[in-house]
Amino acid sequence: IKKIGVFTSGGDAPGMNACIRAVVRTAIYHNIEVVGIMRGYEGMINGEFIHLETESVANIIQRGGTILKTARSKDFMTPEGRKKAYDQLKANGIDAIVAIGGNGTFTGAAVFEKEYGIPAIGIPGTIDNDLLGTDFTIGFDTAINTVVDAVDAIRDTAESHDRLFLVEVMGRDSGQIAMASGIGSGAEAILMPEVKGDAEELFERLAKGTRKKSSKIVIVAEGDEAGGAFGLAERVKERFPNYDTRVSVLGHIQRGGSPTCHDRMLASQLGFTAVEALLQGKKGAMVGIINQEVVYTPFSEAIKDTSSKLNPNVLRMIEILSS
Ligand code: F6P
Repeated sequence: IKKIGVFTSGGDAPGMNACIRAVVRTAIYHNIEVVGIMRGYEGMINGEFIHLETESVANIIQRGGTILKTARSKDFMTPEGRKKAYDQLKANGIDAIVAIGGNGTFTGAAVFEKEYGIPAIGIPGTIDNDLLGTDFTIGFDTAINTVVDAVDAIRDTAESHDRLFLVEVMGRDSGQIAMASGIGSGAEAILMPEVKGDAEELFERLAKGTRKKSSKIVIVAEGDEAGGAFGLAERVKERFPNYDTRVSVLGHIQRGGSPTCHDRMLASQLGFTAVEALLQGKKGAMVGIINQEVVYTPFSEAIKDTSSKLNPNVLRMIEILSS
């Protein structure tokens, strides 16, 4: 391997820059050239490549977002798009790639590698923490801390007014953000897409009506079957008109901001490991950390259903602590 292309794709996540920095510096240490591919697969198709040096990644470890920009590419889902991308890589002498992203990114990487055989290593970069093969994804820790800060602030006003707040957090298919931030903020209930009938459970608890005169915070994942916080609010308002109910949707605030130290460390370790893995001939896999050990998981496995990440013991704990 002489030249590696690195890119970020899908939703951005705090810590992606720290990861790019680690990839670039590790590659240069091994005398390998590094090219930044702008806007994920879009830039690969359009040949948007930039040469990266040690200095190019100075002073970015603390910055949220991604200096390489990101996109969700529709063209790359087509064989014609992938052919263009391959031609661009070949024309520019790029003989291996490091893909930083989530589900969609690895779905694309798996197909691409099968079709064209360019060695690829994936790095889990998404706030959702919805990948198998790693305890945590880059950006998750920052996102849940952002949520906890926001909910702490909401709690103050909720408590003053004896209000019920339905706080919506990100996670189309995954309740990981909801679960972690709900535990961390002492929420009275947590609604996750993976748990069926959780809205009914909430109604039962509200109907029991204990501790009516104090604040209540319900964390709702955007993808919950209740239809997010607004969907849930309609039903709560109808069935419990005695509660003074408010909705707060946190939105993209969760995707930005300076990465936590945990995310910077994770990103550095994964970026460093990904480059060394390519040099050892590894490919077609996502690199992750499980129980502090480096683990490689084939792309097709990493993107499988992650409901198994919800530990039943933790769910039981939530019920007991939030009562
Ligand atoms: O995958 C990260 C994520 O933030 C999800 O939690 C959310 O459902 C989605 O991206 C939002 O995507 P977009 O920023 O494209 O609207």
